[in-house]
Amino acid sequence: MSVELKTEADIAGMRVAGRLASELLDFLTPMIATGITTKDIDRAAHDYMVGVQKTVPATLNYAPPGHSPYPASLCTSVNHVVCHGIPGEKKLKDGDIINVDVTVIKDGYHGDTSRMFFIGKPSIQARRLVEVTYEAMWRAIRVVRPGAHLGDIGATIQKFAEGHGFSIVREFCGHGIGSRFHEDPQVLHYGRAGTGLKLQPGMIFTIEPMINAGRPGIRGLADGWTIVTADHSLSAQWEHTVLVTPTGYEVLTQSAGTPPPPPENA
Ligand code: MF3
Ligand code: CO
Ligand code: CO
Repeated sequence: MSVELKTEADIAGMRVAGRLASELLDFLTPMIATGITTKDIDRAAHDYMVGVQKTVPATLNYAPPGHSPYPASLCTSVNHVVCHGIPGEKKLKDGDIINVDVTVIKDGYHGDTSRMFFIGKPSIQARRLVEVTYEAMWRAIRVVRPGAHLGDIGATIQKFAEGHGFSIVREFCGHGIGSRFHEDPQVLHYGRAGTGLKLQPGMIFTIEPMINAGRPGIRGLADGWTIVTADHSLSAQWEHTVLVTPTGYEVLTQSAGTPPPPPENA
């Protein structure tokens, strides 16, 4: 595994890409409501990226080994969909939860972030799952600093999510990111504190836990992309792109509409 340490120029480019990814979610937020289709969200995102931001949708035609080209400009994962949901014609309805995951490329640099949205009024369980997943991500972000280990990130998420009776998807992880979409290292969302790669200033990676209300098992659909929970329980995910700084961390995927971090001393 070779983990790139970014140059100052790389970091400047990643700050711009990260902000633009977050601003894309800000732009989409008002339309994510009852009655709209996920295809509508995809079309609006594509037009905003290409027409307004002059960014490139990284997911469109993305084809890692063993995969067919991904057919859309973002991922929309509703209810029991864990990740990589392909936008379609189905309308969002009251009580749904949805993850919208966007990755933009600006001047060759990738910004990757996702948020959860409630459609109308969520069930108590859905709200709890989404909030616990958000806090799990933030607790993990807060352990990022030089000298910390990747295992500290995974252990933090695992302890918090499992402590709330939820389970962690094992098959997908966070990832290094830069001029390539998915770089080393793999950032597991479970693990043991004090193990794994030691963090150094200049590393940039995502933290993007997928947490299930039921059992951890997943299944892939015949479209080659969509991942669902095997037991059809709800799944939630949040994602930020994070830089390791000399003193700690910097979240690169922030903008005016970024939800505030949870309180620290909870
Ligand atoms: N944005 C996802 C991630 O966080 C990757 C989506 S790849 C796609 O890594 F092809 F499914 F869009
Ligand atoms: Co990612
Ligand atoms: Co993503």
